Amino acid sequence: MNKLAPSILAADFAALGEEVKRVENAGAQYLHIDVMDGSFVPSLSLGFPVIEAIRKNSVMVFDVHLMINDPDRYIQAFVDAGADIITVHAEACTHLNRTVAAIRETGVKAGVALNPATPLTELDYILEDVDMVLLMTVNPGFGGQKYIESCTRKIRELRKMIDERGLETDIEVDGGIKLNNVKTVLDAGANIIVAGSAVFSGDAKKNVQDFLKALGEA
Ligand code: DX5
Ligand code: ZN
Repeated sequence: MNKLAPSILAADFAALGEEVKRVENAGAQYLHIDVMDGSFVPSLSLGFPVIEAIRKNSVMVFDVHLMINDPDRYIQAFVDAGADIITVHAEACTHLNRTVAAIRETGVKAGVALNPATPLTELDYILEDVDMVLLMTVNPGFGGQKYIESCTRKIRELRKMIDERGLETDIEVDGGIKLNNVKTVLDAGANIIVAGSAVFSGDAKKNVQDFLKALGEA
């Protein structure tokens, strides 16, 4: 099953509650929440109080993407704030296996993210232990960037790796996904689609519905 994960990074933060409701009512299954620490990535975004606040009014799957160094320090706090999936960057963890196990021990799903230039071999000894792989299709840190074309081959190769091992691991793609390239990433094997600016600029309700149609979910 394909899922749409609107990224609130592109939402109007002054009306965040309404923005979340808008995409939820339009049928989005996941809500993608980008947390940035100003160290792993140049920018800062949002943290626990914001997630707690929107959790009260939403039943969507909260898909928390941690672009932070040493995320181990905050796993329990993100679970308490309302995360359903916690994704950490392979590049930001010294002991990735330990971090993934710590996430799963809390009862939430664990994802591992790779930057565009990080090879899939990083996943070789962890793939069996994760629920989702997030392939960055832009360099993390900002919304509204352009999809990096070489990522299409990477998605295809990851899908092959997952299928060959008989796994059910989800492939999430994040960055520069629009209605005009979503088919490319779906065909390559992605099944969870993050979209920030493509959802929240203009009519968010219509954008979600158009994406869900493209995903075969409407
Ligand atoms: C980038 C974030 C993305 C971002 C995507 O660092 O991880 O989730 O919000 O935004 P768009 O869809 O506008 O590229
Ligand atoms: Zn993200």
